[in-house]
Amino acid sequence: MSAETPERAIDVSAATPILTSEVRALLEAAPDAMLILDASGTIVHVNAHAEALFGWQREQMIGHTVEMLVPERLRRAHTAHRSSYMTAPRPRAMGKADVELFGVRADGTEFPAEISLSPLPTARGHHAVAAIRDGTERRRVAEEREQLARTAHALTLRDEFLSIASHELKTPLAALQIQIDNLGRTARRAAQGGPIEPVIAKLDAMARAGGRLHRLVAQLLDLSRINGGHLNLEIEPLDLAEVVLGVAEQLRDESVRVGSPIAIDTVTLALHGDRLRLEQLVANLLGNALKYGAGKPVSVQLAQLGDGRLRLSVTDGGIGIAPEHRARVFERFERVVSGRNYGGFGLGLWISREIVSAHGGTIEVESEVGEGATFIVELPAHPPSPSVHPASAVASG
Ligand SMILES: Nc1ncnc2c1ncn2[C@@H]1O[C@H](COP(=O)(O)OP(=O)(O)O)[C@@H](O)[C@H]1O
Ligand SMILES: [Mg+2]
Repeated sequence: MSAETPERAIDVSAATPILTSEVRALLEAAPDAMLILDASGTIVHVNAHAEALFGWQREQMIGHTVEMLVPERLRRAHTAHRSSYMTAPRPRAMGKADVELFGVRADGTEFPAEISLSPLPTARGHHAVAAIRDGTERRRVAEEREQLARTAHALTLRDEFLSIASHELKTPLAALQIQIDNLGRTARRAAQGGPIEPVIAKLDAMARAGGRLHRLVAQLLDLSRINGGHLNLEIEPLDLAEVVLGVAEQLRDESVRVGSPIAIDTVTLALHGDRLRLEQLVANLLGNALKYGAGKPVSVQLAQLGDGRLRLSVTDGGIGIAPEHRARVFERFERVVSGRNYGGFGLGLWISREIVSAHGGTIEVESEVGEGATFIVELPAHPPSPSVHPASAVASG
């Protein structure tokens, strides 16, 4: 078997499908479905595994082009592939194909096919030997493995989230506790003629800690609400510029504290949307811009797009997000920064994306690491209806 030169090669023409009995036996003994094709792609030999795999008798296959074994929708592409293969035949291992291959059985059912090809020079020109395996099981195992990896990742994230959540809630709560103790003393001193300013300062700090706790708990509530499948919108006509100005006003103290002024490029932008949810969206984006903005100025741009859509972009000059993390930051619990440097649940952008998509819009980010990030939201002037499903509206009260 070793010295197979073209001169002594096997005769495998379609007209006279003569193989030596040894070669025939060898092909039958192969563990895979085997086909021999001539240069024009015509099937000239088939083994018993191939009969079983495709559900045709060998007489029904021999003399036809191999495309009879390829699903209709892929035939044209397959013919082109095969022709180019035959002009420069070389061995191709199983699973090395750059396209997903499928076979079709006599009864019309399809299966993912793993195919290896070897050139077979013969006295009658180039032939090719194809070994074909049903890849269904292997694909199923691979999918199961991926699913398992995704589940494991989700569990890790959830565990991390639980420890972050308890820490995040404890910090403002402890601050609040200390401030309440201090306030008692300061207030008593003020009552005995001491200064009132320290009391006011303590109350401001308490309001901040309370506000932070409130926002964190609201995010937790949103988490279970969105996981439960409903983010109900209460749609009303509003002006997006007004929403942005309102939120920026609420964040003024924070903006001063971190040293990032917020510039807003206002134009009246009328749309129908849920005021509270859109406020929350803007607060998440502006809050992140202040938090990750490295004390640089922040700007908000509003624009009316041609096709009745509106655009809101929030730009900061801060730490930025590397390309490989950009999609991830919109996922639940996903954070790029370390919890030691920046607090947070990793829920804000996920909730933001839910709000935007409930309004029929899109959100994306552009960024250069170390130079800042721009979050771009596009919203239709009218959200897709119905935005409130009567059943879930009743269920959530
Ligand atoms: N403006 C921004 N600049 C740089 N990184 C950001 C910005 N906004 C969000 N990120 C990154 O995306 C992650 C997810 O953001 P978010 O969902 O708001 O959660 P959180 O702010 O609670 O961490 C953040 O942890 C941070 O790594
Ligand atoms: Mg955030």
